[in-house]
Amino acid sequence: MVDEEMGSKAKGLVRPLTTKHVQALSSHIHLFCLLCALFITLSEAVCNPQDQESLLWFSSNVSSSVSPLNWNLSIDCCSWEGITCDDTPESHVTTISLPLRGLSGNLSASVQNLHRLSHLDLSHNLLSGPIPPGFFSALDQLMVLNLSYNSFIVLLGAFNLISFNVSNNSFTGPNPSFMCMSSPQLSKLDFSYNDFSGHISQGVGTCLKLSVLRAGFNNISGEIPVEIYNLSELEQLVLPANQLTGKIDNNITRLKKLTLLELYFNHLEGEIPKDIGHLSRLQSLQLHINNFTGTVPLSLTKCTNLIKLNLRINRLRGNLTELEFNLLQSLKILDLGNNSFTSDIPNKVFSCKSLTAIRFAGNKLTGQISPQVKELVSLTFLSFSDNRLTNITGALSILQGCRKLSTLVLAKNFYDETLPSNVDFVSSDGFPKL
Ligand SMILES: *[C@@H]1O[C@H](CO)[C@@H](O)[C@H](O)[C@H]1NC(C)=O
Ligand SMILES: *[C@@H]1O[C@H](CO)[C@@H](O)[C@H](O)[C@H]1NC(C)=O
Ligand SMILES: *[C@@H]1O[C@H](CO)[C@@H](O)[C@H](O)[C@H]1NC(C)=O
Ligand SMILES: *[C@@H]1O[C@H](CO)[C@@H](O)[C@H](O)[C@H]1NC(C)=O
Ligand SMILES: *[C@@H]1O[C@H](CO)[C@@H](O)[C@H](O)[C@H]1NC(C)=O
Ligand SMILES: *[C@@H]1O[C@H](CO)[C@@H](O)[C@H](O)[C@H]1NC(C)=O
Ligand SMILES: *[C@@H]1O[C@H](CO)[C@@H](O)[C@H](O)[C@H]1NC(C)=O
Ligand SMILES: *[C@@H]1O[C@H](CO)[C@@H](O)[C@H](O)[C@H]1NC(C)=O
Ligand SMILES: *[C@@H]1O[C@H](CO)[C@@H](O)[C@H](O)[C@H]1NC(C)=O
Ligand SMILES: *[C@@H]1O[C@H](CO)[C@@H](O)[C@H](O)[C@H]1NC(C)=O
Ligand SMILES: *[C@@H]1O[C@H](CO)[C@@H](O)[C@H](O)[C@H]1NC(C)=O
Ligand SMILES: *[C@@H]1O[C@H](CO)[C@@H](O)[C@H](O)[C@H]1NC(C)=O
Repeated sequence: MVDEEMGSKAKGLVRPLTTKHVQALSSHIHLFCLLCALFITLSEAVCNPQDQESLLWFSSNVSSSVSPLNWNLSIDCCSWEGITCDDTPESHVTTISLPLRGLSGNLSASVQNLHRLSHLDLSHNLLSGPIPPGFFSALDQLMVLNLSYNSFIVLLGAFNLISFNVSNNSFTGPNPSFMCMSSPQLSKLDFSYNDFSGHISQGVGTCLKLSVLRAGFNNISGEIPVEIYNLSELEQLVLPANQLTGKIDNNITRLKKLTLLELYFNHLEGEIPKDIGHLSRLQSLQLHINNFTGTVPLSLTKCTNLIKLNLRINRLRGNLTELEFNLLQSLKILDLGNNSFTSDIPNKVFSCKSLTAIRFAGNKLTGQISPQVKELVSLTFLSFSDNRLTNITGALSILQGCRKLSTLVLAKNFYDETLPSNVDFVSSDGFPKL
């Protein structure tokens, strides 16, 4: 009785509120909120009863040995852990956020009845089994879906999503970028670490809002479709460890917002786009383990925000001393190993003050290591092995001045020189993980 009376009083307070009232009440705001709080704690559960039932089915289909869902029936379901409701009188559930809970079991089809659900994050659990058929068409308010790091196996239906994240599951079959057709607002698409095969669908060109496309570590083949170069909002194009073939079209330089271009461990060929320097926001360019040919474009050093540059294991050649490496003052990791560069050591690299790791191993570089290397106060890794360097005595005395250097690889150089017997030529290769 008391609850109901409180409830109706509270409602009576709430309903006729106008802006004027709110202004008039602003001095009583504390009292007002106290009443709200009383209303919520004293009244019966306000959570939508159908939504509560759907949540209960959901919870009965999952379990967790780590921390079981402690969804207590005597508490309003809108206050249950991980649940958020809208503020309409019906109090519909809008968010289920239960990442990292050790949940195992299935995704109950009852979730489909949560028609106002806009955010679903069940990432980093042990959930498995099929995603219920019709799931996506039923949840037409769903904007953010994060089912990454689970073991779901089927993906069906049409979507209206802004963010779709199913990285690290066991999805197989043709890749799902066709969904762009029905999700014109899609801005983030992440299906890394699955078993998708087939080509990147041409429909991807209809996803004009796409800012993140991550599909690494799948089995995607074919060329990068030219439609991608029309996605002017794209910031991350991350497709490593697939079976991609063909070239990177110089068009790509229209993607002015690109910060990550990571296409390593594919079968790409042709030249690195000569106008790559137009991508002035680029922070990570990782094209290693492909079959790129030609030279490193001179324009590359206009990408002054670069932090990671990895072109290792390609077929690049040319004269590195012509590049203005000194412009790359943010560069931390530089790997040009295992190509066919023929020139003196590009000493301008030693002006990149942020460098922590440099690898030039496996080229045909000549000359001596410059004393300037001592200016790289953060340098921990340096590998020049398998080149044509000279003056081992000079190199060792200089590198002694690099205080943080923990790995130095100089083997297979200094061919006509007498090597000091007390020097340990490091052969193991501890290049930092990118
Ligand atoms: C459920 O919540 C009520 C009220 O807060 C509490 O008295 C009860 O112990 C809770 N039950 C469980 C199983 O936690
Ligand atoms: C999950 O769904 C599958 C197939 O529908 C069923 O065989 C299995 O028992 C379910 N597991 C749980 C924990 O509900
Ligand atoms: C899982 O949820 C469905 C409804 O979606 C229900 O029919 C089924 O009984 C639930 N399974 C368990 C084990 O509670
Ligand atoms: C799940 O993905 C969404 C969107 O991609 C992201 O906002 C959210 O932080 C992710 N959840 C976790 C636990 O990382
Ligand atoms: C997807 O979710 C994982 C965490 O589960 C997160 O690390 C990753 O950044 C997310 N992807 C996107 C594109 O937000
Ligand atoms: C994928 O997730 C599983 C656990 O869900 C984890 O053991 C594995 O390391 C993850 N793989 C990657 C590449 O992150
Ligand atoms: C990868 O895709 C190719 C077809 O492009 C297929 O022949 C191969 O079996 C797939 N590999 C795996 C591991 O799925
Ligand atoms: C790119 O967009 C333009 C105009 O928006 C369109 O005419 C052209 O066909 C698109 N190109 C591709 C390859 O989709
Ligand atoms: C790529 O740009 C060139 C001009 O730089 C243009 O001729 C060509 O049509 C563009 N290709 C696409 C697919 O937009
Ligand atoms: C590069 O091309 C050669 C010869 O065509 C091939 O044997 C090799 O596997 C290719 N490397 C990559 C990473 O695709
Ligand atoms: C590389 O370029 C520099 C500067 O243009 C030039 O002095 C040098 O001779 C060139 N080296 C080779 C091997 O072509
Ligand atoms: C070897 O390097 C040291 C240190 O830079 C230098 O002093 C010396 O002149 C160099 N020797 C030759 C033969 O160039």
